[in-house]
Amino acid sequence: MSEELRELDPITLRYYLKDHEWTDHVKSDQSLGKPQPPLVKPYDPNGEIIDLPAPEKCALKHNDLSRAFVERKSNRLFKKESISLEELSYLLFNTQGIRDYRPGKTATLRTVPSAGARHPFETYLACMNVEGLKRAIYRYLPEEHKLLLVREYGDDMEEIVGASANKQIFVGRCAVTFFWSAVMYRSEWRYPTHAQKVVLIDVGHVCQNLYLACEAIGCGTCGIGAYNQQKVDELCEIDGVDEFVVYLAPVGRV
Ligand SMILES: Cc1cc2nc3c(=O)[nH]c(=O)nc-3n(C[C@H](O)[C@H](O)[C@H](O)COP(=O)(O)O)c2cc1C
Repeated sequence: MSEELRELDPITLRYYLKDHEWTDHVKSDQSLGKPQPPLVKPYDPNGEIIDLPAPEKCALKHNDLSRAFVERKSNRLFKKESISLEELSYLLFNTQGIRDYRPGKTATLRTVPSAGARHPFETYLACMNVEGLKRAIYRYLPEEHKLLLVREYGDDMEEIVGASANKQIFVGRCAVTFFWSAVMYRSEWRYPTHAQKVVLIDVGHVCQNLYLACEAIGCGTCGIGAYNQQKVDELCEIDGVDEFVVYLAPVGRV
C-alpha cells in the first residue's frame, strides 16, 4: 500500500479502494470484470425433484423468539420419530431460503445474512426419517424451494452418516442431518483472500438459525465440526476442492 493510502482513515480508505477490495492488495475477479459465478449450483432438471410445502404451512410448537434464545441448546439424543415435510420445509427456508433478490438478480437475499450477499452454501440432507421422503441424500434447491434426489441409501444409512462424523453415531441417529457445503468461488470472486474468513462466519449464522427454528417445532440439533472431510464430501457427491462440506447438524424430535 502506498504512503498516501496509509495515511487515510480506515473508512475513507475503504471507499478509496473501490470494488470491495477492503484493504487487500489482491485484485478480485469482480474488479477485473470477470463474470459472476451462478448464485446457486446448477442442477439437472431431469433429476428426481420433490416439491416442498410452503414454510408457513408448518404448525409451530411455539413462536416465541425470546424463549427460543433461552431454551436453545445442543441436543445429541433424538426420539425415533419422523419429522414432517412441512417441518423440513420450515427448517430449510429459515436456514437458506431465498426471501428476495438484489435488483437485476445479482444476488440472493436469504433468511440469514452473508458477507456481500454472496451466500456461498449449498444444503445437502441425509434424510433418515422424514415423512414422504426416501431414505436418501437430497440437495435443497433454494430458488424453487424444492429438493433434488442425490442418492438413495439402504438400512445402513444411519451407520454411514454417523461414521462420516468421526463415529459420532448420534449424527446418523436422527430424522435428518444437514450438511452445508461451501462453493468458495462465489465468495472469492469478490473477496479473494477474505473469503476464507467470511464464509466460516456466514455458516455460523446458518446453523444458529437451525438451532432457533428447531426450538419452534419441538426439535433439537447440534452443530458438528468434527467430521471426516473425505467421507462427508463423498456422501454429498461433491468434489472436495471447489465445493466442500464446512458444517453439519443432525435434527430430530427431542
Ligand atoms: C463450530 C462448532 C462445532 C461443534 N462440533 C461439535 C461436534 O463435533 N460434536 C459435538 O458433540 N458437539 C459439537 N458442537 C457443539 C458444542 O459442543 C456445544 O455448542 C457446546 O458444548 C455448548 O453447548 P450448548 O450448545 O448446548 O450451549 C459444536 C459447536 C460448534 C459451534
